[in-house]
Amino acid sequence: MSDAFRPQVLAGKVVFIAGASSGINLGIARRLHAEGAKVAIASRKHDKITAAAASIAPDVLGLAADVRDYAGIEAALRTAHDRFGPIDILVSGAAGNFLAPALGMSANAFKTVIDIDLIGTFNVLRAGFEFLNKPGASAISITAPQGERPAMFQAHACAAKAGINMLTQCLGMEWGPLGVRVNAISPGPIADTEGMARLAPTPEMEAMVKGRLALRDYGTKDDIAEAVIWLATGASRYVTGTVIDVDGGARLGDARSPI
Ligand code: NAP
Ligand code: COA
Repeated sequence: MSDAFRPQVLAGKVVFIAGASSGINLGIARRLHAEGAKVAIASRKHDKITAAAASIAPDVLGLAADVRDYAGIEAALRTAHDRFGPIDILVSGAAGNFLAPALGMSANAFKTVIDIDLIGTFNVLRAGFEFLNKPGASAISITAPQGERPAMFQAHACAAKAGINMLTQCLGMEWGPLGVRVNAISPGPIADTEGMARLAPTPEMEAMVKGRLALRDYGTKDDIAEAVIWLATGASRYVTGTVIDVDGGARLGDARSPI
């Protein structure tokens, strides 16, 4: 069937995505908009987020808010709610990362990543709850394989993403009876992203990362958007409190060696 005649699976649904001025989350926003959703995106920098929104379509709402600022993210959620109506799909994906050994990291460096990734995710979900379309809303956090297995020079990101994984389980239990499913997606290395530019900046490092993966390649932003769509629709109606790995086998570890 030509795309022009394919039904849009998210027609009329309202989506709010935190941390979507670039990368995976902007890719999710673009794809969900193409599926008929009304999309609001937020990140720290006004110029960057409004340009990102405009790059998708004129009706996408770009809002400046730092996930570390509860009142700021709550105001952004309220603005999206007032423009589009109750939020059906809430995605928390803001993150910061850099490679640094723990001994090369100040207390503030560690805290900064915990504040953006973990506390920021709590803020987005906690503030977002009030604006969700209940029952039936789906809350989705973006975690990473580092939340389940340690990685060199990423003590901050590993701890933060492990916290998101546990938060997903706790909120899944608490909010299921209230009509909200809470899940997370764990992307593996995704091509053309800031994350991989930071973690594997040279062609040699990229080849090494791919060589260790069971599926031997980077994923795409669309691979992650597909998982968001699944978690956003009734196809996943009996799924909550879980982390979906879309990671080419990254969580499994080094797929070259028997030990
Ligand atoms: P990215 O393009 O740098 O995306 C991060 C986003 O978060 C940006 O839009 C950034 O926008 C926003 N952000 C950062 N700090 C923020 C804050 N305090 N408040 C609000 N927004 C903030 O990176 P990416 O690689 O696509 O990563 C996206 C997500 O996927 C992250 O959660 C990351 O951990 C996860 N992930 C990525 C990979 C990968 O291969 N890239 C793998 C596993 C998991 P502003 O700078 O405009 O605020
Ligand atoms: N190594 C060690 N410490 C570092 C560092 C690095 N590469 N980069 C930053 N830090 C430290 C800073 O020195 C500072 O600590 P200090 O006050 O003790 O000096 C602390 O981290 C906070 O840095 P700052 O630049 O003030 O934070 P910020 O809030 O402006 O930015 C970051 C947050 C550091 C995470 C920044 O990299 C960022 O904005 N990232 C978003 C994009 C991204 O990371 N994308 C990939 C997602 S997976």
